[in-house]
Amino acid sequence: MAKTKLHKYERVKQLSNVTFSEFGESHPPVSYPWYNERYEGMEKILELGCGKGEHSLAFAAANPHKFCVGIDGKSHRLCDGAEKAIDKGLGNIHFLRGRIERITEFFVEHSISQVWLTFPDPHPKTRSIKSRLTAAPFLDDYASLLISGGMVCLKTDSDLLYNYTRESVEQWGGHVIETSDNIYESCDHPLYAREVVSAFQKKAQAKGASIKFIAFRLN
Ligand SMILES: C[S@@+](CC[C@H](N)C(=O)[O-])C[C@H]1O[C@@H](n2cnc3c(N)ncnc32)[C@H](O)[C@@H]1O
Repeated sequence: MAKTKLHKYERVKQLSNVTFSEFGESHPPVSYPWYNERYEGMEKILELGCGKGEHSLAFAAANPHKFCVGIDGKSHRLCDGAEKAIDKGLGNIHFLRGRIERITEFFVEHSISQVWLTFPDPHPKTRSIKSRLTAAPFLDDYASLLISGGMVCLKTDSDLLYNYTRESVEQWGGHVIETSDNIYESCDHPLYAREVVSAFQKKAQAKGASIKFIAFRLN
């Protein structure tokens, strides 16, 4: 394994703004740092599969009265975002090393205002459709976590995931509220967060992919 990756696995364990969830361990959601009374009353934004957390970092910096949680299964990726948050003195952001399939164990029902899915794996094979982060079981989870009027936002370079998500949300009974098949060519919308470019997005754009966006409500 590359030395820098190994160093990150060690460094991330020392960071106060990263929580590790271990499989089989069970804690009540209110015991997680984002429900600390210091953050009471703050709107909460989740980024699932956040990687290095570029979107969470940008949202936390632009919205000091909102609390952002970036979740990823790979702790060496979270290390970059968590260290940046500390360098920038951002106190309204936290990272969780954990599986997205378990989010309802980490958050209280109807306590989240936005769920962001930033360049998730499109899982193109038919046999792995159920792993797409906009498949019905995931939508059920997001619906249980979102406050009334809350929304889910997806950014993707994948036409397949973009089209699938529109259909999946409609079949589930949700409402698509904003779409773009190329956020840099459509008329701008504040939700697109065009100015935030994640590591994965940069690679996709270098290959000529257009960046697509969907926002939807589930209640
Ligand atoms: C394609 S990358 C995108 C990373 C980042 N959002 C970006 O735009 O650069 C997908 C990320 O989702 C994470 N991921 C995929 N499935 C996951 C799961 N089931 N639970 C937690 N993280 C997951 C991966 O570890 C990876 O960092």
